[in-house]
Amino acid sequence: MTKFLIAGNWKMNLGPTDAAALAGELSKKWPSGSFSNDVVVSPTAISVPAVVDALKGTDIAVSVQNVHTEDSGAFTGEISTPMVKDAGCKYVIIGHSERREYFGETDELVASKAKKVIADGLRAIVCVGEKLEERKDGSQQKVVKKQLDGVLSAIDSSDSKNFVIAYEPVWAIGTGETASPEQAQEMHNYIRSVVADRWDETASKNVRILYGGSMKPANAEELLSQDDVDGGLIGGASLKADSFSELIEIAESLSK
Ligand code: 13P
Repeated sequence: MTKFLIAGNWKMNLGPTDAAALAGELSKKWPSGSFSNDVVVSPTAISVPAVVDALKGTDIAVSVQNVHTEDSGAFTGEISTPMVKDAGCKYVIIGHSERREYFGETDELVASKAKKVIADGLRAIVCVGEKLEERKDGSQQKVVKKQLDGVLSAIDSSDSKNFVIAYEPVWAIGTGETASPEQAQEMHNYIRSVVADRWDETASKNVRILYGGSMKPANAEELLSQDDVDGGLIGGASLKADSFSELIEIAESLSK
């Protein structure tokens, strides 16, 4: 049985003080043993220590939003996997569309980051998703397959349990527009078939495929009820303890 993964991507919001306050609210609401799925929050790097500290005594894991491929060295402004582990994180988001769009991350770079993250014992949440014009011209599967190809070559099927894919159609991120449950299911099923073709059926079932793009309490139940939707990567609605908690509750009410 797959557990849902409910992951909050806080993006470039909430410095240490505000991030600790939000984590503190979540900590009060969700003490250890209070949910059965997996829950993750991903603060901006500078807020990680405060959040890790505030979440002690809970089962909520912490993620970062990016890493470099080297362990250390002259890479001003970057953070590395040993640092991320030392800080107490278990997950890394890789290849978010905002990193691809604004920071020039290529499929090759995303693949090498995923390889590094998994080799170092962290879980990788690799984001894929088409832009609006690609959805309009019907090339969304081709686009997503290309984004996945390099990553699936870079990591081994034996690591499938540490590999999470987030399908985030770019046109649905921060826009209030959501993929319909049918559109999400169709793409998630396609992604699983790509993983099964490249690896095998069992590994494709181990990989969790999250939906991201304006997921919120009002639409989460429909999306999470789809066969191949194994959780959510949530931006806006993860920035408030109430709405994020509602999402955790919805996932709890729908056992996989
Ligand atoms: P929103 O939920 O704000 O649309 O953001 C989605 C996202 O990009 C999560 O990584």
